[in-house]
Amino acid sequence: MGLVFYNRIAANLNQLFRQKNTATASLVRFFFSQGYGNFGYNLISTMKLLQGKTALITGASKGIGRAIAREFAQQGAYVAFTYLSSIEKGEGLVGELLELGAKKVKAYRSDASKFEEAEKLIHQVVEEFGGLDVLVNNAGITRDNLLMRMSEEHWDQVIETNLKSVFNTIKASTRTFMKRRDGSIINITSVVGIQGNAGQANYAASKAGIIGFTKSVALELGSRNIRCNAIAPGFIETEMTEQLDEKTVQSWRDAIPLKRGGKPEDVAHCAVFLASDQSSYVTGQILQVDGGMLT
Ligand SMILES: NC(=O)c1ccc[n+]([C@@H]2O[C@H](COP(=O)([O-])OP(=O)(O)OC[C@H]3O[C@@H](n4cnc5c(N)ncnc54)[C@H](OP(=O)(O)O)[C@@H]3O)[C@@H](O)[C@H]2O)c1
Repeated sequence: MGLVFYNRIAANLNQLFRQKNTATASLVRFFFSQGYGNFGYNLISTMKLLQGKTALITGASKGIGRAIAREFAQQGAYVAFTYLSSIEKGEGLVGELLELGAKKVKAYRSDASKFEEAEKLIHQVVEEFGGLDVLVNNAGITRDNLLMRMSEEHWDQVIETNLKSVFNTIKASTRTFMKRRDGSIINITSVVGIQGNAGQANYAASKAGIIGFTKSVALELGSRNIRCNAIAPGFIETEMTEQLDEKTVQSWRDAIPLKRGGKPEDVAHCAVFLASDQSSYVTGQILQVDGGMLT
């Protein structure tokens, strides 16, 4: 029993050293060496998964992005996030995250589809937060229609907002991650990018593009200890889906093996895992958060 306990402390200490949280680690080592193992262990167990990491989340004014920002704040991250048209909601989130315990938060109004805006955004975040550890590309839109009726404008809008945006922020932040030889990039794709969906050819193409891009970035940057993964949510119930007919929504729920729609927090918990050092040997993966929908 004693041995198991001490092994557990040793494992946690190792993790602390890996996280380069040297101040806390030294403190723990001191108390441990003085025989105050329990104190040290308690200190470790209260540590949060993203303590001291700076994260940037695009499109966090509502839905999944907002849930990711809230979970990151609760896990000790410094949170930078963007919004575009929901100004009040975007600015309102700042106070919410501070209340959840985030030590540093800033909202940026920035259009993810514009290359120059993304470059400016990354530059500002690195300067104002002193670095960047985690990038979450979440901003996305739909412009659904059957191909016969889909306009070129709607094709371009979806590809630029959902796919080009991912290129924009990753391109702009790669140098920062490479210098630090560390970083976790998380791209939000969709089960629709894996399976396709009638009436969503533009959206499916953008999300499938994200999958290919994620795997390529993981291959290119892995040697610099930069990880790149994607999350593919299934049917997640957000403000948007509240507007839909209840009967239709119930039929979708019934078709899912877990018999419910996902919550934004279900996606956010996976984002915490991929952002944290708990996933330090995971890269190039597409994590489906879909209640078993595609199984
Ligand atoms: N909900 C689902 O069932 C589901 C399933 C699979 C994948 N996803 C993906 O998950 C992500 C979030 O979806 P959601 O359901 O949470 O959507 P949502 O509630 O509509 O939120 C989308 C977010 O993206 C932001 N955004 C849109 N265009 C932007 C731009 N050009 N620049 C910066 N921000 C922009 C919006 O900001 P403003 O409102 O401030 O403009 C908003 O914060 C999307 O990538 C979506 O494709 C969702």
